[in-house]
Amino acid sequence: MKFAFFDTKPYDIPSFERFGKDAEIEFKFFETKLNADTASLAAGCDGVCVFVNDTVNAEVIDRLHALGVKAVALRCAGYNNVDVKHAFGKLHVFHVPAYSPYAVAEHAMAMLLTSIRRIHKAYIRTKDHNFSLSGLTGFDLHGKTVGVIGTGRIGRVFINICRGFGMRVLAYDKFPAPDADFEYVELNRLLAESDIISLHCPLTEETRHLIDASAIEGMKKGVVIINTSRGALIDAEALLAGIKSRKVGAACLDVYEEESDIFFEDFSGHIMDDDTLARLITMPNVLVTSHQAFLTEEALANIAETTCANIVSFFEKGECENELCYRCGRTENCRNERKGRCF
Ligand code: NAI
Repeated sequence: MKFAFFDTKPYDIPSFERFGKDAEIEFKFFETKLNADTASLAAGCDGVCVFVNDTVNAEVIDRLHALGVKAVALRCAGYNNVDVKHAFGKLHVFHVPAYSPYAVAEHAMAMLLTSIRRIHKAYIRTKDHNFSLSGLTGFDLHGKTVGVIGTGRIGRVFINICRGFGMRVLAYDKFPAPDADFEYVELNRLLAESDIISLHCPLTEETRHLIDASAIEGMKKGVVIINTSRGALIDAEALLAGIKSRKVGAACLDVYEEESDIFFEDFSGHIMDDDTLARLITMPNVLVTSHQAFLTEEALANIAETTCANIVSFFEKGECENELCYRCGRTENCRNERKGRCF
């Protein structure tokens, strides 16, 4: 099997070559992202392997289908960049539902601690032999209230980490887990009572700009907002306004609404076109990492292993448990006929 691998980064190659060899999958690695202009690179391939900022819209799907491509193997969990409905009957789409919830939850906590204990500032100071503590006062996490929005795999790991710090946890989820051993509250109450708010829900039409000007209005003064989920969960302009008005005490952002042409690339030495991101980065209480939360050795290995297993399962058995499909590619006996889709 041959797969065109888009948006390749050096850290992707070793694990995909290793697991690809075992599974007899040849990956053709391209640095470019998948979009309507680059789709033709997949000519002669059975499928494409894509990441979060590749574009798999209707136009790209039609172009890939015309080339004879059969599958889209997402090497990530989120699939908001894929028009899954349009793909039905043309391309089969698989994703990696979980690879290391610990990687993302631990990164969220790393950002929180870095931000509130000013580690990023202290690191630069001591490198310059400046041992002053002025302006580095933080606050204890112990006893603070953390609001966790989205209590799936990553949200639950984050909740456990927070409990280890002695924090009070409030949770909100559209589909609360029946076996939860933490307190669910209405979203407005979570926003009003939390000292720290961390986002762990997917990006959908419903969650787009979940954190907007009115949500920020309802938060505590000095609230710390963490987003390791998807950028568009937050209205970046509203966040910037909240920071300028001192309502938001700090923001830890691993994702950004308009990240797709910026994150993962080296733009040092270039003029930043995105004024909102540029302004956010200049703020002393905003910490930005460029969609790095997933990036651990364990996660990279799990991603490559599951992606290759998805491809092998589909091409050898004709089905794949991680397929995102409105009928799993089966003409009958869909495993979720009632819902009309299997994800
Ligand atoms: P999950 O599917 O296990 O959990 C998501 C939770 O969000 C579920 O409990 C679901 O019921 C809840 N949810 C759905 N709609 C909601 C709504 N309207 N309001 C509140 N909650 C809602 O997903 P997982 O694995 O925990 O991942 C969460 C998100 O993290 C992903 O959607 C992805 O966007 C992001 N992510 C970010 C990474 C990074 O490197 N920064 C890496 C991996 C995932």
